[in-house]
Amino acid sequence: MNAIITRRALGGAAAVALARPALAQGLAFRIGLILPMTGPFASTGRQVDAAVKAYLRQHGDTFGGRKVEILLRDDTGVAPDVTRRHAQELATRERVRTLMGFGLTPLALAAAPVATEAKLPMIVTCAATSFIPQRSPFILRTAFSLPLACQPMADWAFRNNIKSVVTLVTDFAPGLDSEKAFKERFERAGGQVPLTLRTPLRNPDYAPFLQRVRDARPDALFIFVPSGEGAALTKQFAERGLPEAGVKLIGTGDVVDDDILNDMGDSVLGAITCHHYSAAHDSAENRAFADAFRAVAPGMRQNFMAAGGYDGMHLVGEMLKRTNGSDDGERLLAAGRGLSWTSPRGPVTIDQQSRDIVQDMYIRRTERRDGQIWNIEFDTIRQVRDEG
Ligand code: PHB
Repeated sequence: MNAIITRRALGGAAAVALARPALAQGLAFRIGLILPMTGPFASTGRQVDAAVKAYLRQHGDTFGGRKVEILLRDDTGVAPDVTRRHAQELATRERVRTLMGFGLTPLALAAAPVATEAKLPMIVTCAATSFIPQRSPFILRTAFSLPLACQPMADWAFRNNIKSVVTLVTDFAPGLDSEKAFKERFERAGGQVPLTLRTPLRNPDYAPFLQRVRDARPDALFIFVPSGEGAALTKQFAERGLPEAGVKLIGTGDVVDDDILNDMGDSVLGAITCHHYSAAHDSAENRAFADAFRAVAPGMRQNFMAAGGYDGMHLVGEMLKRTNGSDDGERLLAAGRGLSWTSPRGPVTIDQQSRDIVQDMYIRRTERRDGQIWNIEFDTIRQVRDEG
């Protein structure tokens, strides 16, 4: 009798054990995608959302036997408490197995403790302050970080006869990162930074700042503003007569964002910027990305935020393939660390130790070609990593 019960019990347990992987395989793998879909940074949300859809259109929606399901949440871009609430609800009520997105640094910081607590991989596709991956051991970043762009920009400027530069950055963490990285590098090379300006994140009026730049008469103005802001600033740069005053425009690629580049007009032509992604990047991978993006978002041009989202989706797909569709956050995370692939931006690696992205950086000139404005890459700095 006992033997029979034992055998039956074992049979039941074995049946459950056997059924479990099949069950996980059958269930969708849910990804909580938190983005600013409304508000001042909605272009970032639209770009990343479309890029994720483009990736799934191109590669199918099943990886390691698991069909992925995207749960998109709008955090409005300016409310970290909303981001955190979405992350918590997605982790508990919706049982997502990965968090993804995060349009701005304060929003990524708000979600990081939720990822740690719930042991969920958190793929940062946008936010670009240096220290972000240190805020949770579950963060993997497919975006970039500002020093990667600012240091090569400083080197290029000094080599190209620019000896004095005023910096103008948005007054929040990535802006302060940019100012510090550019200034330190440029001064170490022997250049001068006579004035550093910081503009407010919300509703900035650039006119008084640009007047001060004009009065200082530097060789160049170095700019970082978050994606979406560049049009207002470059327009006023021209209106204030800075090009005529001999002030060159240099900066990070955030300023000449591909999403809005065509609306910036001729004032932006000739700007020199450093960044990790240009829609004009000449590669088969980038052409395939552009085609898939156009198919899901007709009339839109993919920008660097979209590249972060597309690569974020690739990373999750690879993590699923390498774990046979695991739900285990720690296994997924381990599978993501150290991964290398050819992105539309060029060769990239998620660094095993820092969990941050290592990638090529490009110096670009903004040019009109065939009636459209593009950032044309003309110099490459290979496999750059954030040194912290
Ligand atoms: C950020 O908040 O980290 C951020 C936002 C927009 C950018 C770059 C960085 O273009």
